[in-house]
Amino acid sequence: MSDKSSAGSSTSEFDARGFRNALGRFPTGVAIVTARDALGGLHGLTVNSFTSASLEPPLILWSLRNASSMMPVFREADNFAVNLLAEEHIEDGRAFAKSGPKMFDSSRWELSNEHGPTLIGSVATFNCRMVSRVPAGDHLVFLGEVLTFSYSTTSPLLFHAGKFFESDELLGSRDSTSDSR
Ligand SMILES: Cc1cc2nc3c(=O)[nH]c(=O)nc-3n(C[C@H](O)[C@H](O)[C@H](O)COP(=O)(O)O)c2cc1C
Repeated sequence: MSDKSSAGSSTSEFDARGFRNALGRFPTGVAIVTARDALGGLHGLTVNSFTSASLEPPLILWSLRNASSMMPVFREADNFAVNLLAEEHIEDGRAFAKSGPKMFDSSRWELSNEHGPTLIGSVATFNCRMVSRVPAGDHLVFLGEVLTFSYSTTSPLLFHAGKFFESDELLGSRDSTSDSR
């Protein structure tokens, strides 16, 4: 099945909904990015904009919606941590996509990490120093230098067309029209 849309010649003709749907066709992993505020408060949100940017030096990036309640935290943060979610973290992925203060359960989160809380059982964790913030339309792109990292061979949680998937499920899926991001 295909749903063809094209950008019109003026902004008003641009199919914004279709654009989001088209972007959503790109399967991604899911991450929770965390940071501490100046008072030591813990913050985090679910993202799928995470990607690698450079190997030498080791850089990664992700983007945050300008209107997000998380913006004051990450605009000021000197450090942050990226937790790539495993299949078992699907409820964490959902919980950290909601507005409002987030709960960091100390039986599941390593809270003492100076860059930001790290989720036990993550597929990979990257502790980053914020090196650049780049305005990009309605988002701000954060570039982080990876200072330390760890990883496991656990199966990752995936996101496609507005839905979470386990790896095997996505390989077996056909078409999906939901799109909530
Ligand atoms: C799978 C998934 C990926 C998301 N990726 C991003 C992202 O890359 N950047 C972003 O700003 N919001 C992203 N969101 C939405 C944020 O998680 C959500 O806006 C935030 O946690 C809620 O806080 P806020 O409403 O105060 O911004 C994503 C949500 C989901 C479910």
